[in-house]
Amino acid sequence: MDDADLELLFADPLPAGRVLFMNAAPHAGLAAAKDRVTCVQGWKPVADALARAGCALAAAEGIYATSLVRLGRNRDVNRAMLARALDVLGPKGTLRVAGPNALGAASYEKDLKKLGLEGRSRSKGKARLFVAARGKADPAAWRGLDAPRELGSTGFVTAPGVFAWDRIDAGSQLLAGHIPADLSGVVADLGAGWGYLADAVLARAPAVERLDAFEADAAAIACLARNLAPYGARARALWHDVATGIGRESYDSAVVNPPFHDPRGENRALGLRFVAVAADGLKPGGRLWLVANRHLAYETALSEKFGEVRRLAEDAAFKVYFARK
Ligand SMILES: C[S@@+](CC[C@H](N)C(=O)[O-])C[C@H]1O[C@@H](n2cnc3c(N)ncnc32)[C@H](O)[C@@H]1O
Repeated sequence: MDDADLELLFADPLPAGRVLFMNAAPHAGLAAAKDRVTCVQGWKPVADALARAGCALAAAEGIYATSLVRLGRNRDVNRAMLARALDVLGPKGTLRVAGPNALGAASYEKDLKKLGLEGRSRSKGKARLFVAARGKADPAAWRGLDAPRELGSTGFVTAPGVFAWDRIDAGSQLLAGHIPADLSGVVADLGAGWGYLADAVLARAPAVERLDAFEADAAAIACLARNLAPYGARARALWHDVATGIGRESYDSAVVNPPFHDPRGENRALGLRFVAVAADGLKPGGRLWLVANRHLAYETALSEKFGEVRRLAEDAAFKVYFARK
């Protein structure tokens, strides 16, 4: 997925006044106006890039003249984002919404028109922009659609848009069954999501002194913090870009169900980077448990970084590996 939607958002100069940018990303048009733009971004790698570009990251506060919304993958998250963007717009404010056609950008325009917004649209590349006056539209039905909620009767809290937010991931479940009950010391979970695997480690292995749950998605971190709260100081939910590393030789063990997507689409190199980061983060002799979709090849990356590699299990969809540094 390219950045055509980002280009469309900044194709015309920003009007005077305060600007809110939801699901923000760095762009020259943003840099030029950064002193009056509030950027909202929950994905740590992009939040870090915005901070490096000198952009202020904060929650929306007060009234704005312009709201920019860059659509993401999840419909409920997008609708909640649009509701927030409208709620903070002054009565004469302008909304700009852009997204890739592949994520249904035209359907949001249709929904916004049904709410009563009037405006114009433009397409470029594989993306679409809708610009509309705030008017009197009431997005009541969309407010809070991204709020955390209980996952059935599991006792866990998840939120729309978070990885496997409406289920327990079958790969993580398979991996959990292979965590030894006598695991001890300090453990890292790389890409912890809402915390199923982290919880399984802490519940199964009481001798684990502390588990650091690293996760890039702020919405997942909010769920993680709640799901791991019963473990007190044994668990830390860390909003962190794992690709930047987790320190050197700090952990006795690690668990990972590596991602092969980021918010913009498939990214297979990311999972391989997770393996290298896990290896760097483990103490000599440290142990790794990894689960991966069958169609993804991790054997070579594991063998390059670890002294011992064993396949512990496989089913129709997943493979579980053990590796020792
Ligand atoms: C396959 S999921 C595993 C989820 C979780 N371990 C579980 O128990 O189901 C991979 C997770 O990695 C996260 N992730 C992706 N890129 C990341 C990055 N650069 N840094 C940290 N976490 C990342 C995703 O948001 C996702 O929650």
